[in-house]
Amino acid sequence: MTRPTIFVCPHCGQALHESQSTAQCSEGHTFDFAKEGYLNLLVAGRLSSSATPGDTPDSLQARRRFLSAGWYEPIATAVQELLHNANGPVLDVGCGEGYYLSHIDADSMYGIDISKKAIQMASKAYPMSQFAVASSYRLPVDDSSCAGVFTVFAPHSFSEYQRVLIPGGTWVTVTPGPHHLKEMRPSRDDTVEEREQRRSEPPEQATQAERLQFTLHLTEEAAVDLFSMTPLRWQTAAQARPVTDVSVDVWIASGTNLM
Ligand SMILES: C[S@@+](CC[C@H](N)C(=O)[O-])C[C@H]1O[C@@H](n2cnc3c(N)ncnc32)[C@H](O)[C@@H]1O
Ligand SMILES: [Zn+2]
Repeated sequence: MTRPTIFVCPHCGQALHESQSTAQCSEGHTFDFAKEGYLNLLVAGRLSSSATPGDTPDSLQARRRFLSAGWYEPIATAVQELLHNANGPVLDVGCGEGYYLSHIDADSMYGIDISKKAIQMASKAYPMSQFAVASSYRLPVDDSSCAGVFTVFAPHSFSEYQRVLIPGGTWVTVTPGPHHLKEMRPSRDDTVEEREQRRSEPPEQATQAERLQFTLHLTEEAAVDLFSMTPLRWQTAAQARPVTDVSVDVWIASGTNLM
């Protein structure tokens, strides 16, 4: 039996019809389901999964350990609350290993990420949701098919959000605020601080933006995991470091598709 899906063929945009082991469009483009159940809808040549320098298997395992221990649960709850009225499919853009999607209670849940390893982990852990390897900037998702779409700390495109949302559909983004994980960051001079501050504002497209701030008192293992799952790990070891008492400061922004 064919499952309904919002995923479409990345070559021609036609609907995908699923059989046991493949999904195929009416033009004959065929995609195999991986053994974990996801589809690879990233078109070769446009972008490769090597475009994700951040996602080593180690950093993905660190993220899974850190998130499943519940340290960022207030963020997951805030996203879930903004989307709980979504009456239809919800899509997580840049879903990573799937933690935030697993908090969403919708008719059907979908996640995409450019990292194959992340999608493998997500698909294995959350078989009730459908996952695909794909780019945020070119979603293999039907026009006007989602009641909700969201992104947590990952690249996203507002024009793609508008295209895939139904009229009245809701989008939510989570982006870092100015003091996010500041205790782990190298100290900087005032000019750099100011520039950071400007970069840490909520998206201008938002009709609503709330700043969520709390302090974590982490175990040493959790501090190392948090450090390893962020770009901080690329900075000079002597400057950036894992610490156990750390500020979380994020913007939870949202808007509606008015088209
Ligand atoms: C910091 S992680 C956040 C993952 C997840 N949302 C979370 O918060 O746990 C950023 C994610 O964005 C993904 N990513 C980076 N560039 C992307 C792109 N162009 N399209 C889709 N995903 C992308 C990475 O593979 C990674 O999983
Ligand atoms: Zn096709």
